[in-house]
Amino acid sequence: MIGRLNHVAIAVRDIAAAAKVYRETLGAKVSAAVPQDEHGVTTVFITLPNTKIELLEPLGAASPIAKFLDRNPDGGIHHVCYEVDDIIAARDRLKAEGARVLGDGEPKTGAHGKPVLFLHPKDFLGTLIELEQA
Ligand code: CO
Repeated sequence: MIGRLNHVAIAVRDIAAAAKVYRETLGAKVSAAVPQDEHGVTTVFITLPNTKIELLEPLGAASPIAKFLDRNPDGGIHHVCYEVDDIIAARDRLKAEGARVLGDGEPKTGAHGKPVLFLHPKDFLGTLIELEQA
């Protein structure tokens, strides 16, 4: 069911410093920082030949990554994003398998303007999974 790895997301406290590490130390192609008010994060995308890295910095008091950074003060891998052809069919199949879909279970518009869902890390080996409609 899952297809390509769309991105790996890394939560960071300082997105400018993190972007510099990828741009200058690792020599990657790094986007400008984009505040995503509706998601409570600022994002930077790093384009690699086969996938992307998404840097996430908390935005606002109720950021969904604030707690993660409290537990991981140096930053760390926050989620992986897999593409699916049909996000509603994927959701229904996962629910039928007993997996927990976060929030109200309805897809939201993600950072790329496509429908996304998040799956409970306790059902997936301790890893938060984002599904994105391909
Ligand atoms: Co993501």
